[in-house]
Amino acid sequence: MEMPKPGDIPLSEVTPKDVYMNRRRFMAGAAALGAAALAGEGRRLIRPAGVEAAENLATVPSKYSTPGLTPTPFYDITHYNNFYEFGVQKGDPAANAWRLKTRPWSVKIEGEVKQEQTFDIDTLLKLRPMEQRVYRFRCVEAWSMVIPWAGYSLSELINECQPKPTAKFVQFISLADSKTELLPWNSGISWPYREGLRMDEAMHPLTLLTFGLYGQDLPNQDGAPVRVVVPWKYGFKSAKSIVKIRFVKNQPETTWNDMAPTEYGFYSNVNPNRDHPRWSQKTERVIGAPLWKQRQPTLMFNGYGDQVASLYKGMNLMRDY
Ligand code: MTE
Repeated sequence: MEMPKPGDIPLSEVTPKDVYMNRRRFMAGAAALGAAALAGEGRRLIRPAGVEAAENLATVPSKYSTPGLTPTPFYDITHYNNFYEFGVQKGDPAANAWRLKTRPWSVKIEGEVKQEQTFDIDTLLKLRPMEQRVYRFRCVEAWSMVIPWAGYSLSELINECQPKPTAKFVQFISLADSKTELLPWNSGISWPYREGLRMDEAMHPLTLLTFGLYGQDLPNQDGAPVRVVVPWKYGFKSAKSIVKIRFVKNQPETTWNDMAPTEYGFYSNVNPNRDHPRWSQKTERVIGAPLWKQRQPTLMFNGYGDQVASLYKGMNLMRDY
């Protein structure tokens, strides 16, 4: 039998059957809830976050997709989230992110660029063909998922923006809107959520400007309408619901690094040899996997070392964590 090449497999084939079964059950549930709505139930109670708004995204296969991975069920990807704008518990974003208004939406490009400009989300969606990329996603809290994202390399947008040679870093700024987000004080975060990358990291083809998952628009709780995904770094580097991309000369402020610099470094490359001060990073719990496959060893650079290790040549990754 001829083996498929990386990135050759259509999503319908890589999706495990139970995911579709789950989704069908989910949609049936949604239909029942719709009927309840007609009977006069409140909108807040009946809307399953992100599902009503989901639209199909046409995607093309990608040479950057990671072969041989089984995607995490859609339900887990959309109900076990970190999106502190909507609460600090894992189920909060699924319960609360229906508040997020994703249209109109624009992304402002600022700082060290030839000309500052603003992109409407619908222009960004059409800027390049939408690729389907299955990536490992490793959270600093030692759990992981496999997510079939849809997007294109961030470098495509950066090239459009024509950064000046003085642009050494890129900062991503998420929406902070108290009218549509909860912005809880007990998160400890000073809003807006901010993240950043060195320019060469931002330009690396694996760094994905992300608009969807499982062939649909991003559900709100996963960072709609546009987020970044940096698969070789801990998940918190992948900022959600981005409204600004700022090109800067110096290493920018980033949310978790500012709050707890001894716990969360600016680089935050996945590294099983450098433990978090409060827990080991040697293994990870694979969300949604069968019990006997849930504990897996964590891979250096989350398994993307062949592609990205050269970015860190000569750096001490135990110190520059
Ligand atoms: N982006 C914003 N704006 N706010 C957040 O709280 N959490 C981060 C990251 N991006 C976060 C964010 C963390 S800690 C993780 S692990 C990932 O989003 C989670 O992404 P997911 O919920 O889609 O799996």
